Amino acid sequence: MFTPDRILTLGRAFMASKALLSAVELDVFTALAAGPLDFKSLKNRLGLAERGARDFLDALVALGLLERDPVGCYRNAPDADNYLDRHKPSYVGGELRLYNQRQYPHWDRLTAALLTGESQSQESAIDYFPTMYADRAKLSTFAQGMTGGALLPARAIAANFPWAEHKTFADIGTAQGCLPVVLAQAHPHLTGIGFDLTPMKATFESYVCAHALADRLRFVAGNFLTDALPKADVIVLGRILHNWDLATKKLLLRRAHDALPPGGAVIVYERLIDDERRTNATALLASLNMLIMTRGGFDYTGADCCTWMQEADFRNTCVEPIAGGQSMIVALK
Ligand SMILES: C[S@@+](CC[C@H](N)C(=O)[O-])C[C@H]1O[C@@H](n2cnc3c(N)ncnc32)[C@H](O)[C@@H]1O
Repeated sequence: MFTPDRILTLGRAFMASKALLSAVELDVFTALAAGPLDFKSLKNRLGLAERGARDFLDALVALGLLERDPVGCYRNAPDADNYLDRHKPSYVGGELRLYNQRQYPHWDRLTAALLTGESQSQESAIDYFPTMYADRAKLSTFAQGMTGGALLPARAIAANFPWAEHKTFADIGTAQGCLPVVLAQAHPHLTGIGFDLTPMKATFESYVCAHALADRLRFVAGNFLTDALPKADVIVLGRILHNWDLATKKLLLRRAHDALPPGGAVIVYERLIDDERRTNATALLASLNMLIMTRGGFDYTGADCCTWMQEADFRNTCVEPIAGGQSMIVALK
């Protein structure tokens, strides 16, 4: 006998999601990183009103994000402590802050996006990234959000690609420079470029300086829609192609091919839809996020990407799942 439980649980999933996003916004996990706090101390530290505070904190316990001991003190669950304390290098809360500030309100417009086929973001009506970057606060939230989402894939790419065979790389659409920093830390022989729009320069440079890597990593400002890409042994397109329509995806792969030497490699990393388009709900929902947020963007399968790479004259295409639900697609020139 079927029950409606699964359906109703899915319908309410936004409540659990928003509780997590608000907890990250309020920095609950950073507050608890130094050690457990009782209810009153934690409530006061977070500035919570009396009404709702206990339900909120206990909901986080029930969701497995906090633990509460028999005397009523709250502490972080181990994964929350590792990934949601903003003072730890493994912090991924930047991505969740971005969901909270940008995606969450825009998803209220999903039905309208489906009925019109049009983006529901004001920025995309003009020129998504430059319009967003005119507001420094939005640029900063976005850049930190990208670092939150890129950290685990970057570590996996550092570990799973034959970097010893290459000397230079260029990360196209680098944002704050998470991937270049991770690669340079893991492989001292590498030097790299972070390529992005001019407004990202200061953010990239201060992030790279904070990691003491300015001697090996530099920023190149440019527009990948109009400019050639910087030359390097390896070109990385991390979570770039999904922002754009098909013609632009193909253009970017051709530009990557032009920038590589013979034997050079392109690495695309992205949350791929499964080839059968049946099982990876997260990736399919991410593609709807592109519908809502961008003018022509959509997510795609590994098979799609390999076909576009072959059309751009790449060979030896290979799809490999990496961390954080992402995959890397590697091809050679
Ligand atoms: C979705 S983010 C991905 C950031 C990073 N690669 C990652 O995986 O976290 C897309 C990046 O492309 C950059 N970008 C967008 N349009 C661009 C353009 N026309 N030329 C150069 N960079 C661009 C954005 O500034 C942003 O940093």
